[in-house]
Amino acid sequence: MSALSAHSTTPFSGQGIRVGVFDSGVGGLSVLKAIRQAMPLADLIYVADSGFAPYGERSDAFISERSNEISGFLQSQGVHGIVVACNTATAVAVHELRQLWPHLPIIGVEPGIKPAISQSRNKKIGVLATPGTLASQKFKSLVTRHEADAELHLQACPGLARTIESGNLNRQELKTLIAQFCAPLKDAGVDTVVLGCTHYPFVANQLQASLGKDVYLLDTAQAVAKHTAAILQNRVITPSTDVTRGEVTFWTTGDPALLQQVAESWLGWQVVAHQMDSGQD
Ligand code: DGL
Repeated sequence: MSALSAHSTTPFSGQGIRVGVFDSGVGGLSVLKAIRQAMPLADLIYVADSGFAPYGERSDAFISERSNEISGFLQSQGVHGIVVACNTATAVAVHELRQLWPHLPIIGVEPGIKPAISQSRNKKIGVLATPGTLASQKFKSLVTRHEADAELHLQACPGLARTIESGNLNRQELKTLIAQFCAPLKDAGVDTVVLGCTHYPFVANQLQASLGKDVYLLDTAQAVAKHTAAILQNRVITPSTDVTRGEVTFWTTGDPALLQQVAESWLGWQVVAHQMDSGQD
């Protein structure tokens, strides 16, 4: 039996697989990092749509158009699957992407309300997310499924992803926004806070300091990575035998130097970022 068999007890290393990962900007790097740990032999292609970030305060039509454009690019790179490493794009566009490419696994992310409820002691949960995610039908259905099981405190964070995207995490503006968005959750006495935007793990330390050390911050990156490996392990057709490490390639519609700088400090390895054509005339 092949080591890559779905029935193998060895965790799937990603050998022979190419995965596309995208976000409105640098936020999806938090998911990419977890995918890299889960599948070190997979080739990963990351696209940051920083030229058009943030998505969280844009129209649905805009987010769908950008998501289609980037997924088309990833598809042209021969990926075996796409991870939409953005809660906002998942909420608005994942359904359409799955219809456009029915044979390609498209894995989305969503705020981890269910795991938050499982681990909360007092069943008071805070959710930090973009205005776009909170306003979406997909998120509203998620809330409807769980609202009987816990007190959910939803906090929209306009401006937070944009400020993180700028790359300077010491700005006063960032401190002000974090204090403003954490205050209602502290007042509500939540013991668990869901990071419902992939940009927010970048400021997890600041959020923790503002919310207090006893509040548990829930990030779903590792669960998404595990799910991605499980979905893709049956897609390997001709695994190569001589791979020691998968390649990771970075593209951005914004400034490659900025993506390079943020990615290197977040991922801890040397990065070369390429300029991607925005697809707009
Ligand atoms: N990182 C994204 C998310 O998870 C989007 C942030 C934004 O572009 O507004 O929602």
